[in-house]
Amino acid sequence: MLYHIVTFGCQMNVHESEKIAFILENKGYSVTDKREDADVIVFNTCAIREGAEDRFFGNVGALKRLKKANPNLIIAVCGCATQKADTAEYIKKTFPFVDIVIGTFNLAKLGDYIDQAKNKRVFEQWQEGDLDETQSYLRTSGDNAWVNIMQGCNNFCTYCIVPYVRGREKSRKPENILNEIRQIVKEGKYKKITLLGQNVNSYGKDLCPQMTFTELLQEISKIDGDFQITFMTSHPKDITDELIKEIAFNPKMIKSLHLPAQSGNNRILKLMNRNYTREKYLQIIEKVKALVPNIVLTSDFIVGFPTETEEEFLDTMDLVKQVKFSSIFAFMYSPREGTVAAKMEGQVPDEVKHDRVNRLLKLEKQIQKEEK
Ligand code: 5AD
Ligand code: SF4
Repeated sequence: MLYHIVTFGCQMNVHESEKIAFILENKGYSVTDKREDADVIVFNTCAIREGAEDRFFGNVGALKRLKKANPNLIIAVCGCATQKADTAEYIKKTFPFVDIVIGTFNLAKLGDYIDQAKNKRVFEQWQEGDLDETQSYLRTSGDNAWVNIMQGCNNFCTYCIVPYVRGREKSRKPENILNEIRQIVKEGKYKKITLLGQNVNSYGKDLCPQMTFTELLQEISKIDGDFQITFMTSHPKDITDELIKEIAFNPKMIKSLHLPAQSGNNRILKLMNRNYTREKYLQIIEKVKALVPNIVLTSDFIVGFPTETEEEFLDTMDLVKQVKFSSIFAFMYSPREGTVAAKMEGQVPDEVKHDRVNRLLKLEKQIQKEEK
């Protein structure tokens, strides 16, 4: 009995696919990299931009042929895209050969759903769920071990679907995180521990007693062993001086920081509900560079946010020039149904978005060349 997992989207999903792999192996399945040979195919989906969703629909459509050849094949879709009721409904109607459609909060039950799907199609989305504190993983990312420290997001950046499909912020208990890392270190296979959360800087605010992200890093660093620590993703509004110092002076911390700026223009940052200004962002970068001179800085940017003018886009170009990031991700704004920005007037035409994203990426290449 073989399984095949297709993962779309971010590191969080890559890590969740490691959870899916564990569940399936526990049920007696082994992995195959050939879709045609699989008895169970799982699509772990992403909803962050329309493109990610479209690619997933195309991929699922192509499975019809496999189901015809093997009627016992079980096809499951889960993740952020199918957490949305409209997408789940669309899959149910459009792809009758899909057996299981679930969301983000009930993933741990996938094993049961596979049993049920032998008799009938399964559709189940939960609106929230408890943190999965002790779930096991089949780690598949080489010498990097992902460790989820929290779920969800409270920020509601106006473009972002994440708070709607992953719920409110919930931090895992430090003792569970530390135990997981002790186990990882004991296995001796992993050199790098990457802590994951939508917004790791607000780790612990919901715990009782509260704990800061920096305190968590300090506790993790006390674990004996030859490993390095990094994390993603940070929100500039919650970066503290303590955290910057921790990156600078803790020898276990990898000297890198992914700090999404999204825009270099204050009016757009405000419309995005990012809660910081261009000046504040640059101030953080200055502090980071002063304390960690060789830091690898990376960022995310969105171009063509509703009403963004050419001049405002040039502010983003200028910020990228000023900071000289090691690399950046540049995305064309993609309206996500249900978010505030999707309803804003002044949506920017696709040609303009294309042009801006190309210019930003060209600038990135130019900076990389100059900095070599
Ligand atoms: N359109 C384009 N990019 C988006 N991102 C999040 N939502 C959207 C959207 N609706 C980008 C942000 C974020 C990264 C993970 O994806 O830059 O940091
Ligand atoms: Fe989305 Fe903003 Fe939360 Fe990041 S911080 S997941 S961009 S809402």
